[in-house]
Amino acid sequence: MKVRKAVIPAAGLGTRMLPATKTVPKEMLPMVDKPVLQYIIEEAVAAGIEDILIVTNRAKSAMDDYFDYYPELEHRLEAAGKEKELEAVKQAADLANIFYVRQKETKGLGHAIWRSKRFVGDEPFAVLLGDDIMRSKTPVIGQIIAQAERYDSSAVGVQQVSDEVVSKYGVIKAEPLDERVFAVRDMQEKPALAEKFSNYAILGRYVLRPEIFDILENQAPGYGGEVQLTDGLKKLSVQGKMVAVDFEGKRYDTGNLKGFLEATIDFSLEHPETGEWLKEFLKEKAAAL
Ligand code: UTP
Repeated sequence: MKVRKAVIPAAGLGTRMLPATKTVPKEMLPMVDKPVLQYIIEEAVAAGIEDILIVTNRAKSAMDDYFDYYPELEHRLEAAGKEKELEAVKQAADLANIFYVRQKETKGLGHAIWRSKRFVGDEPFAVLLGDDIMRSKTPVIGQIIAQAERYDSSAVGVQQVSDEVVSKYGVIKAEPLDERVFAVRDMQEKPALAEKFSNYAILGRYVLRPEIFDILENQAPGYGGEVQLTDGLKKLSVQGKMVAVDFEGKRYDTGNLKGFLEATIDFSLEHPETGEWLKEFLKEKAAAL
């Protein structure tokens, strides 16, 4: 069945980026000249998604405002002949059909996904985490959707990570099915190094079948006292209904300081207005270190 809808959970508290994220959602922090969330929505749209639900909370109304029209600003830009800026401002509001639902209590990623049940209905849907930006030739969520549709199953995006960081992720136990595609047999959330199933970590992109909602509805809190999506996915995977896709692309976790800075530097180096300048600046800095 075709995947037409996407859910972006963006209701986390962003505690790794405090104090900035006390009032500015981490998804709205600027990545050069656009908020992080816009890159994620653009990825979904490039993969053919039409309807997007953002799971938000009471401190994050800046997100709904950003993807709306702003007539006073638009008139001012128009009168000043600032066409490029006007175009950019309007484009953000016209990207997709965007819907919102609030997660009234911050009970974890699994709980945030469960809040999308009414929006999703009875069809498979994509999930893109609100702080993971992907850089790739083919949209990463498009790569995952293609395999989910091919195998008529749920799918998770994975990449190999080092032993130093594997205990920070959900990891899979899997058997190869095809080039870069695995059948998932089991999962663990944040395993101890000695107990890890593999080094394939789940990295922020999923296609889920609607059976996940019944699983999440009755699921007790797991690691950290939160309703963990991985625990629900594990139940789906042991029923034999899940593939993993070793996707092509680079993932930036902008929800922690180092990941945010890494992305900022890479994206600024590629940006036409800052790239050449930043190269020279970094050379000067490196020479002085
Ligand atoms: P993270 O663990 O990366 O986000 O959750 P967080 O909880 O904001 O992070 P820290 O540890 O406090 O810095 C992964 C994704 O799940 C969303 C987050 O917004 C992020 O996109 N999330 C997490 C929710 O929507 N609701 C939650 O209750 C928890």
